[in-house]
Amino acid sequence: MRYTVVLTGEYPPIAREILAPAFDVIQHPTEQARTEEEIITILSEADAAITLLGDPLTRNVLAANPNLRMVANYAVGYNNVDVEAARELGITVTNTPGVLTDATADLTMALMLAITRRVVEGDDEIRTTGRCEWEPMKLLGISLQGKRLGIIGMGRIGSAVAERARAFGMEVVGSRRGESIDDVLATSDVISVHAPLTRETHHIIDAAALSRMKPGAYIVNTSRGPLIDENALCDALDSGHLRGAALDVYEFEPEVNPRLLRMRNVVIVPHIGSATDEARTAMARIAAMDVFRFLNGQPPLNPVVPQPRA
Ligand code: GLV
Ligand code: GLV
Repeated sequence: MRYTVVLTGEYPPIAREILAPAFDVIQHPTEQARTEEEIITILSEADAAITLLGDPLTRNVLAANPNLRMVANYAVGYNNVDVEAARELGITVTNTPGVLTDATADLTMALMLAITRRVVEGDDEIRTTGRCEWEPMKLLGISLQGKRLGIIGMGRIGSAVAERARAFGMEVVGSRRGESIDDVLATSDVISVHAPLTRETHHIIDAAALSRMKPGAYIVNTSRGPLIDENALCDALDSGHLRGAALDVYEFEPEVNPRLLRMRNVVIVPHIGSATDEARTAMARIAAMDVFRFLNGQPPLNPVVPQPRA
């Protein structure tokens, strides 16, 4: 009997190339914010699946198809998966760590530079006026040289950002899981958030944390939107307490707080941290390889919920 692998989105072709010779592969179009009912229907024939970070893999969903033995989440973050339920139901869950670290750290630097040097405002000015006028006092930002970068979450990605920031002459302070972030908040010119979304990190940057930040500081988020209370962030930007924010992720994706859309001192991009040819292909390869290994009775290489083999 051939196993069925469901791809809940359109991943780089390498995923199919690895899986199709050995298994029946069903691919669905990429869709945002599916409901539980939708994802239950999509997964109804699956023995294993490669899933999108927006797919809600709740207890209901995981329990709905008794044949489902394995989920390879196409992301390093797996806050969309109820890992407790997966463990109890005997479903193996994997993620795609490591291969997107550089891409995400690069985008973090791109956002940090874009917000502190007002790149998007400048781009907008030229498109609007059709002219490039040099003015001594126009679009002034700050230099990264000599500034302090506070990294909340010194895992793989946080550490890769630290390495890049040091090359720009920044002094880096980091906080690891479980450590107080108060000092980091109070002394940093730029804060960058790199923690997984868990119960503990939800709104780790709330109104109180924002108020502790240095006046005129910037904040960058390429991890998960709900780490920041988005409304409180808008308040801190509106009041001028923060000078700018650069965001790749949002509290209620795919929705973006309309207040952010109106602000000039924010740079906003649509969750593209890992969006390089290299990273996305490598993510597809390791997700598919782990499905392949699992369905062939070998332990997957990137388990977040290890389980007995298929
Ligand atoms: C993307 O956000 C990921 O977690 O890989
Ligand atoms: C993610 O890969 C992290 O550990 O930062």
